[in-house]
Amino acid sequence: MSAHQADFVVVANRLPVDRVVNDDGSVDWRRSPGGLVTAIEPVMRANDGAWIGWSGGTDTDVEPFVEDEMTLVPVPVSAQEVEEFYEGFSNATLWPLYHDVVAKPAFHREWWESYVAVNRRFADRAAEVAAEEATVWVQDYQLQLVPAMLREQRPDLRIGFFLHIPFPPAELFQQLPWRRQLLEGLLGADLVGFQRPNNAQNFVRLVRQRVGHKTHRDLVYLPDGRMVQAAAFPISIDSAGLEELARTDAVEQRAKEIREQLGNPRHVLLGVDRLDYTKGIYNRLRAFGELIEEGEVSVEDAVFVQVATPSRERVEQYRILRDDIDRLVGRINGDLGRIGRPAIHYIHNSQPREEMAALFRAADVCVVTPLADGMNLVAKEYVVSRYDNDGALVLSEFAGAAGELRQAFLLNPYDMNGMKEVILAAMRAERSERTKRMRAMRKTVKENDVTRWATKYLDALSHVRPSHHKQVRP
Ligand code: ADP
Ligand code: F6P
Repeated sequence: MSAHQADFVVVANRLPVDRVVNDDGSVDWRRSPGGLVTAIEPVMRANDGAWIGWSGGTDTDVEPFVEDEMTLVPVPVSAQEVEEFYEGFSNATLWPLYHDVVAKPAFHREWWESYVAVNRRFADRAAEVAAEEATVWVQDYQLQLVPAMLREQRPDLRIGFFLHIPFPPAELFQQLPWRRQLLEGLLGADLVGFQRPNNAQNFVRLVRQRVGHKTHRDLVYLPDGRMVQAAAFPISIDSAGLEELARTDAVEQRAKEIREQLGNPRHVLLGVDRLDYTKGIYNRLRAFGELIEEGEVSVEDAVFVQVATPSRERVEQYRILRDDIDRLVGRINGDLGRIGRPAIHYIHNSQPREEMAALFRAADVCVVTPLADGMNLVAKEYVVSRYDNDGALVLSEFAGAAGELRQAFLLNPYDMNGMKEVILAAMRAERSERTKRMRAMRKTVKENDVTRWATKYLDALSHVRPSHHKQVRP
């Protein structure tokens, strides 16, 4: 398929692979971090389409290429734009603002200008790559201006947008000096998808208040007669694919080996995250440390494995977090560990899929405690990996996943004592209770997998814009 005639185009800040230049000058492609890639990759494989995105570097090589059977179309981003558009406006302004201001957002006019310029480049590339009347699906907070910029050039297209992170309430969103431009950018789409219904409601309310368009329920009526729908589509994972991997002998063997290497403790607790301050890693490790200090848990029979992918390492808040976690792990292990029995195994890197599946299989308790999170796919991955209907999921009420995984051990990550109680309850739950909860959650995640998510979204998109002949099926 030529990238110049795609009927289905995904536009995301990142390509599914990152270009890595080795010391000897050779180039490798590595899987990009984060939930967006986990979710969109299987959808893309099922569709003969093109994926437009950034390669993670500052190379200017912009020729489309095929990698792992997907057509990838790189968009160049300069070193200054990485600083201003990616690290700056996307990850030091929008990211904290949209995640309940758990860190203070910074507002800089040069960052905004860079955001506009890079969004325009993505929109221009999409306009070149999309075939007549194609479906273009724009992803996430880094590209909120793309829908309107694209519509201006290509009114023939069916344009969707999906936000993977929370959309904030009006009280927070209106801090943004460029609030109106972002809302108008999103309104270029026919369907604006969110993780949770309250995100969609926040958006519609803001459009009414700030842009002045008429709205009714989840619909926005534009003066030119066009209609935009805003609705929730909770994202998911390739449940069958992950379960198949988890069931392989190699993964099962590795899970056993991991437990042995940990000293065969009675309880293995696991945390898996990008190293991000929204994930509540600090509070969770502190809670575990306090449980040991108080004698509720002993390092002889419990261990916490925390795997954290390096993320956005040049952004100040992420640097601070990394130092804080390094210090906390050092302090807890120094104070409470014994020879051969550290309280926490902390791994600061990205692991292959097989290793992740083995870790999920090896963990008695998976601890997911974000302060705010659009969905959190790790929670769903753990559930799918536990095909033996065992294991306990500890889950923050503030993860989008809590809307579906009601049988998890739910907690408020700001409440330290509450968190300790819930972690203990999960560790001490009877097998019958674990099974009851896990079975119900597994049913939910298996029925609502990523294919279902994409089908529902794309069906809704074709309903808002029915005058279209070409259908895209995930
Ligand atoms: P986010 O999109 O904010 O990173 P999610 O929980 O939705 O959060 O998705 C994270 C994805 O990244 C999951 O698919 C998870 O398995 C993967 N992941 C997280 N940490 C690691 C790691 N250390 N190694 C490999 N994959 C990881
Ligand atoms: O929505 C989650 C997300 O922010 C994606 O948009 C992003 O690709 C991923 O996490 C990882 O973050 P980054 O691309 O900044 O490394």
